[in-house]
Amino acid sequence: RNNDNEKVDYVYKVVVIGDSAVGKTQVLSRFARNEFCFDSKSTIGVEFQTRTLRVWSKVIKAQIWGTAGQESLPFIAQEDYNSMLPFSFGHQRWVEELRAHADNSIVIALIGNKADLEEKRAVPSEDAMEFAEDQNLYFFETSALTGDNVEAAFNKLLEEIY
Ligand code: GTP
Repeated sequence: RNNDNEKVDYVYKVVVIGDSAVGKTQVLSRFARNEFCFDSKSTIGVEFQTRTLRVWSKVIKAQIWGTAGQESLPFIAQEDYNSMLPFSFGHQRWVEELRAHADNSIVIALIGNKADLEEKRAVPSEDAMEFAEDQNLYFFETSALTGDNVEAAFNKLLEEIY
């Protein structure tokens, strides 16, 4: 973990989108502050958290925007983000919308969260993997609760932006 006074080489914006209650806010807090909150409130509008970290030899400030679960893409100006972390399998059309509107260089990762609740799994890993491969997305199954793979997902995303 880097200290925040360090000189920042790049600021990257990451937007987290997906249905309500899939764990967007908690994945974000896990990454930004290594915290998890059991009674998290539903996000209203957008809110961001930051974390400064090293990606290879550069100091990257990741500014990660959590959005409220919603039916359409967040109303953040498209040129404002470098990457996306779409959650929830129900909204596969988001990928198409994103590709249609965003810059070609946008990096997208698909996240299946709550991996700790294996007995309640909603989407088989193979289906998600196949979809991700089809759409050329990175794919991670994470748990904000245990912290599993959260770091890996964000690191991959930030490395690919760089
Ligand atoms: P909105 O703000 O309404 O869009 O929801 P969100 O996607 O930000 O979900 P949030 O992070 O608020 O999490 C919703 C609920 O799921 C909360 O009760 C969390 O404690 C719980 N939750 C989030 N991530 C995990 C996880 O990885 N494992 C488990 N078991 N619960 C989780």
